[in-house]
Amino acid sequence: MHNVLEMSEESRAAFTALKQREAPKLAERFTPRDADLFWVRLERYFEDAYLALMQLYGDRPDHERHLDAIFDTVVDSYMARPEPLRLLDLERQVTPDWFERPNMVGYVCYPEFFAGTLSGVKERLDYLQELGITYLHLMSVLKPRPGENDGGYAVMDYRDVNPALGTIADTHALADALRERGISLCVVLVINHTAKEHDWAQRAIAGDPEYLDYYYMFPDRTEPDAYEQHLEEIFPGQAPGSFTFFPEVAGTGRWVWTTFYQYQWDLNYANPAVFRDMLETIFFLVNQGVDVLRLDAAPFLWKRKGTSCQNQPEVFLLIQAFRALLRVVAPGVILKAEAIVPRDALLQYIGVKTTVGKQCELAYNNQLMVNLWSALATRKAHIAAQVTHHAPRLFLGSAPINYVRNHDDIGWAITDEDLGAVGENPALHRKFLSEFYTGQFPGSFARGVYFQFDPTTGNGRISGTTASLAGLEQALENGDEAAIDLAIRRILLLHSLILARGGIPLIYMGDEIGLLNDDAYLEDPGKANDSRWLHRPRMDWPKAEKRYDSDSVEGRIFTGLLQMIKVRKSSTALHNFALFQPMWTDNVHVIAFGRLRYDGKLLVVANFSESLQSVQGDLPQQAGIAGPVRNLLAEDQPLNMAGGRFHLEPYEALWLYAED
Ligand code: GLC
Ligand code: GLC
Repeated sequence: MHNVLEMSEESRAAFTALKQREAPKLAERFTPRDADLFWVRLERYFEDAYLALMQLYGDRPDHERHLDAIFDTVVDSYMARPEPLRLLDLERQVTPDWFERPNMVGYVCYPEFFAGTLSGVKERLDYLQELGITYLHLMSVLKPRPGENDGGYAVMDYRDVNPALGTIADTHALADALRERGISLCVVLVINHTAKEHDWAQRAIAGDPEYLDYYYMFPDRTEPDAYEQHLEEIFPGQAPGSFTFFPEVAGTGRWVWTTFYQYQWDLNYANPAVFRDMLETIFFLVNQGVDVLRLDAAPFLWKRKGTSCQNQPEVFLLIQAFRALLRVVAPGVILKAEAIVPRDALLQYIGVKTTVGKQCELAYNNQLMVNLWSALATRKAHIAAQVTHHAPRLFLGSAPINYVRNHDDIGWAITDEDLGAVGENPALHRKFLSEFYTGQFPGSFARGVYFQFDPTTGNGRISGTTASLAGLEQALENGDEAAIDLAIRRILLLHSLILARGGIPLIYMGDEIGLLNDDAYLEDPGKANDSRWLHRPRMDWPKAEKRYDSDSVEGRIFTGLLQMIKVRKSSTALHNFALFQPMWTDNVHVIAFGRLRYDGKLLVVANFSESLQSVQGDLPQQAGIAGPVRNLLAEDQPLNMAGGRFHLEPYEALWLYAED
């Protein structure tokens, strides 16, 4: 093989030694071509992994032993990768933008609430395909602890599925069926913590020193107190503090680091054995046919005293190492960071600017979601427009996940800086949004409830489904046709914006038919204190049947969404590679941005108010679009350009397209 890649001498020496050690094993099992493929890939990604691992663990006297174990896992997992998936890897390597194409449209659901079981999900694939879904994110598939489990985010066995949902065989059958239909499968990897019932935790409880080191354990409050001075509480109401005393651990009891619920124990990634075991878990899952792994609570992976213990530099080294090794074993698989963090930190998770091609391929665009709801409440687009001016204009091999709602709460994460820049008072704005979405603000259309409320600021995180927050619940209750119409328009408006931004739009189950809040959780003592269950309803299939009735609420939302999805899929200007062009309009209610590619250009213009609005007619030219434009979302209607301005209906979005 040629040494086409530059590597430091140190990395090259380590690579050569590894090759000498492992080559016989690979040669025995594989044809020379398959073995070569492994070495070509490893050579390409070796330095990314090696340097990260050395920075993380190189100071330990036993680091060589740990690194050897890590690379052994890589070789074994490559050898275990099933043939059809190896082919898929090759296909994706020759189409590296497979997840960035406009045909990617995501859907996220709890299998249990969507279809009862994994086989049930398999029976419902026609429905998803009808909607144009090409990416299915299943939550809570892996075996959770019994009883309360934070919606499946407390896993006791990563190699088994939730018995209530089916078996590993059912997962395989579902993964195969999805692959046949060209739908990628995303599952959650709860990487920051395990359930306290996980085997590693059980061994720690039994006092095994090897496993005590898998978690953060302290004999008394000295260290926890020192850390806690700088930690943010994630669930202050339900699970205050970040440490919990468990008297049963190792005879004498320990304070265990529990960022989230008390039964979710944070893993200690300063221990290379934890890295190796999680790597093996990743390979196990991807070798079952998972295409995308969602790294849960990624910011919390590394702890450093005196800091918030979020987004520490080592988090990015961990991701870099995981990712590089994943590219060797399963280059068709990508990683998605769940990092609900400020903009600059978020961009690090997808390697924008500094570590291009070394971090996750995908990350949640929490900022867009928050700004959509903020704009809907104020009827003004100026804050959102301000924020878009700081958004990356181009992504290289990574993409945001754009969403209207997910299974978590909405926290009012708009920075003081962005709010100040457009003359808004940050504290008042957040308080307004909190009151608006809990329906307390006079005239509010929303029906949300608080998830965590901070009485000192009057600011609260919000639970509620898209439809209920957008006014549908209230409008239906009042039997107010005009209000129903506005609510439907709001729902479609928000979706038009997630479909038109770069990256993958992700539709939250039930939003396509306007499912309302479900307060059944209040009857369940294991859920009643966590209002996020309000927006985790069961799929209502009889309601979904009404999607063919164009007069029904369900039909209007579903067909509206479907039409936009179809248009998205056929527009190359909505490829993730299209340049994002932020813009200002001369109307505070209207946002606009461009999506520009050499072979097609799109100008998105959207009205956040319930009245008619207009904007300057030369917006396309300002965006760098020369040719005549047509509205892809309403090709059968002439554009209203009276007085040389674009006119928009209440909550209307225009997708103005020109060939060049
Ligand atoms: C993630 C999940 C959230 C969960 C938390 C702890 O943020 O989205 O639902 O509570 O992690 O696992
Ligand atoms: C915080 C965490 C996020 C989690 C959410 C759950 O935002 O950063 O990981 O999903 O809380 O409410």
